[in-house]
Amino acid sequence: MKVVTSIADVRHQVKAWHLAGETIGLVPTMGYLHEGHQSLMASAKKDNQRVIVTIFVNPMQFGPKEDLASYPRDLERDKIACEQMGVDLIFAPTAEEMYTPCFNSYVDVNGLTDALCGEKRPGHFKGVCTVVSKLFNITCPDRAYFGQKDAQQLAVIKQMVRDLNFDIEIIGCPIVRETDGLAKSSRNSYLSDNERKAAVCLYQSIELANTMIAKGERSVATIHSAMQLLIEQQSLAKIDYIEFVDLCSLKPVSQLTQDTLCALAVYVGKTRLIDNFIYHFH
Ligand code: PAJ
Repeated sequence: MKVVTSIADVRHQVKAWHLAGETIGLVPTMGYLHEGHQSLMASAKKDNQRVIVTIFVNPMQFGPKEDLASYPRDLERDKIACEQMGVDLIFAPTAEEMYTPCFNSYVDVNGLTDALCGEKRPGHFKGVCTVVSKLFNITCPDRAYFGQKDAQQLAVIKQMVRDLNFDIEIIGCPIVRETDGLAKSSRNSYLSDNERKAAVCLYQSIELANTMIAKGERSVATIHSAMQLLIEQQSLAKIDYIEFVDLCSLKPVSQLTQDTLCALAVYVGKTRLIDNFIYHFH
């Protein structure tokens, strides 16, 4: 496994693989890797001859009051996690390598970014789309892998790829969870013992919603208030949003009469956690 920090080195390797007729799967990450990231690597490994993992804590997608400085980093541990999964190349650039001092071009997907995390984190998806476009252009993959954990991000990237004609297949991968149901996240490392126990309320609210749906409930208001009540019982938790939106347009719905994404963001202590589930209309 190679670990490179320069764009030129990535291009050199990618050229050689393309010349040999090999396909490339890309897994973009911000590092501090866990089994969620590794599941994307496993899918990439299955579908492609070569796998590239990028590790870059992208300053552009963090708001001024967000956790850029404290975001967890451990490249040595990440190398082991990638090696285990048979990754061929890690690209771990510095911010200076990705953003030269005169950098001034952006990729901004409209519409889909108005709601959910886009509304709560202004500029976030502009930062995500800009860096992902750059990573696509640097690594020229055949396929790129994203987690359903970040459902809005996946939808936005798919739209960007359609709109801008990136010749890349975007593959969405299921949410990987801890045994108690908490979705795996690099940010879980911020949680104290008590917060970690409290954090299961996101998944519990999803389970409650699914139980209500299984019993025939279709009113978003009813399911929403049950989820809200459950999370509010947890004193360490503070709801940022719980939203039910159409899976394609990400516009709010009031009844489960179409494919629906239920997405939630909850602060547990100071840590903002997200989770979601999809209801498929039959
Ligand atoms: P990061 O949060 O490191 O996540 C990298 C990828 O792993 C994303 O596609 C995310 O959805 C996926 N992922 C995270 N936790 C997961 C879980 N529990 N189950 C399944 N997949 C999971 O998302 C980003 O980085 C950045 O925004 C990035 C796309 C790299 C652009 O900077």
